Amino acid sequence: MTKNKFRPETIAVRAGRPHGPGQPLNPPIVAASNFRQGGELEYSRGDGTETVAALETAVGELEGGWAVAFASGMAAISAVFDGLPAGATVVAPDDCYQGVAAVLTEGAQRLGWRVTRLATDDGEPWLRAIEAGADLLWLESPSNPMMAVADVPRICAAAEAAGVVVAVDNTFATPLLQRPLDHGAGYSVHSATKFIGGHSDLLGGVVVTADPRWRDDLRRRQTIGGATIGSLEAFLALRGLRTLPVRLARSQASAADLALRLAKHPAVTSVRYPGLTTDPGYPVAKRCLSGPGAVLSFETAGSTEALDRALSGLDVVTVATSLGAVESTIERRARLEGQEHVPPTLVRLSVGCEHVDDLWADLAGMLERLVEP
Ligand SMILES: Cc1ncc(COP(=O)(O)O)c(C=O)c1O
Repeated sequence: MTKNKFRPETIAVRAGRPHGPGQPLNPPIVAASNFRQGGELEYSRGDGTETVAALETAVGELEGGWAVAFASGMAAISAVFDGLPAGATVVAPDDCYQGVAAVLTEGAQRLGWRVTRLATDDGEPWLRAIEAGADLLWLESPSNPMMAVADVPRICAAAEAAGVVVAVDNTFATPLLQRPLDHGAGYSVHSATKFIGGHSDLLGGVVVTADPRWRDDLRRRQTIGGATIGSLEAFLALRGLRTLPVRLARSQASAADLALRLAKHPAVTSVRYPGLTTDPGYPVAKRCLSGPGAVLSFETAGSTEALDRALSGLDVVTVATSLGAVESTIERRARLEGQEHVPPTLVRLSVGCEHVDDLWADLAGMLERLVEP
């Protein structure tokens, strides 16, 4: 693990580059599964490649730990859960990415995991769960799609003192807004498909840990599970990471602006964005995050059919399921399986890098269609 003296904006640009005279500025895309014996790398399923190592170095330096890259966010998440024994006690949020909810359901059914689901934004039950003992606490903050914010520093500190392992899905916050390992989390997990990649052109995932034994365990999961990231995807993710600070700054500023405008619109019944002073997550976000991020959710008046029709007329904002990219995306989340707790007309908006006035004109037009179909 390399301690980096620079600020995150500088680390994002510099980390993981080849060094020395005559070296390329960017790591090569090493298209190889097999390596001549006698060197450090033998087979890329377990050893990765120079390109994968560059991505791992950069994300590791941003998060303050060792990073192990996987073929998707779900592969990264599964690598953490794969370490749990049968009968494990797991505490997880009531609102989280539905893929994690599916892992929990399967773990309970196949392996007898005792799973407790708690509200992300209510710290006390988490502290009681830590006292009671658990094999793993899973946090996701801000949460997808309800935008609830957890008191990550407080929960992690209590868990560390009690010897309970915490994993934080840091996808929405990115390493720029939250560094869970600094607070004692065992793992910080990302879907690199989202903000790290930032261009909707790759699948990838990363787990970061400050414990060398857990890093070795993750490598073993990578070797045995085989969900290693490919060199092209690693290259794209690293290229995306270089501009994460500027993309996020712009997207976050636009998200804050749009949240305010949406909150005033008569067709919008509620907005969830931890940057709004009226949001229940605002005080915790102010204390725990370096910024509220670029994702928000809002609910609209009227039927889901009317909303789906209005959404289909959007032009600048793309109706699509993923998030964290330069292009803004929007989705009515309750249409998906595993989102039964989500209000039917809640839409999640991931704000990209377009001009905020073009985004607002598009969204305002959509809301007008709701009011006057
Ligand atoms: C918060 C969060 N974590 C994990 C994932 C899963 O990542 P991937 O789609 O890269 O497997 C997603 C995907 O939407 C997500 O939103």
